[in-house]
Amino acid sequence: MRNIVVLTGAGISAESGIDTFRDGGGLWERHRVEDVATPEAFARDPELVQRFYDMRRAAVQTKQPNAAHHALARLEAEWRGELLIVTQNVDDLHERAGASRVLHMHGTHLNAWCTACDARHRWTGTLIDKPPCPDCGEASLRPDVVWFGEMPYEMERIYAALRGADLFVAIGTSGAVYPAAGFVQDASQLGARTLELNLARSQGSHWFDESRQGPATQLVPQWVEEMLAG
Ligand code: APR
Repeated sequence: MRNIVVLTGAGISAESGIDTFRDGGGLWERHRVEDVATPEAFARDPELVQRFYDMRRAAVQTKQPNAAHHALARLEAEWRGELLIVTQNVDDLHERAGASRVLHMHGTHLNAWCTACDARHRWTGTLIDKPPCPDCGEASLRPDVVWFGEMPYEMERIYAALRGADLFVAIGTSGAVYPAAGFVQDASQLGARTLELNLARSQGSHWFDESRQGPATQLVPQWVEEMLAG
């Protein structure tokens, strides 16, 4: 057991105070995906979309990584093999906990993407006021987040890592959104052992060799202790 791929979802950041999407009171209960998370929504009402992401970008900067993020950063530092974190999350809590091998397949809140010159810029402020792109000067900045109907990032690197994985672990994800929801089957077919750590059984639990239920801040440090003791 050398190469580990960990997929994380909104559930790993829930105990840091960041809303998940599909749990009770989650973001998609309060906002319609069709209004705030598609390219069509942005074309139709860019202010509504920018306001939604400005609000979330500001909120993320007030949150702190929790014990689950810190445990994964420790595993990255102390594990004898390779560890890659593939996150669906657009927050930067993995990195703020000290992890460096992190792929954001759905983008990140803290980048703005210029659709005129294709540049990406670190961004902590707002976009609703149409600031000019620091490179080309066009007022064409949008959140660097992958919306429904758009291609996720880093797919080639993710599949290459799945091909080399001995262990695939999914943490805090409902298994509702593809292609991430299909990684467990890909990893399994490629010979990896698969483990789910989630508050409740997910839509894909039956695909995993093992599924443990509980809060990430308990399950992840426990699992990391096991791996490092092994
Ligand atoms: N600890 C562990 N798991 C938790 C916790 C917790 N404290 N709180 C919630 N969960 C679990 C829930 O049981 C649920 O299965 O996290 C999962 C969160 O599911 P979603 O809200 O659907 O989030 P996620 O799976 O990351 O969504 C995938 O959908 O909306 C899009 O692009 C968005 O990246 C997102 C993608």
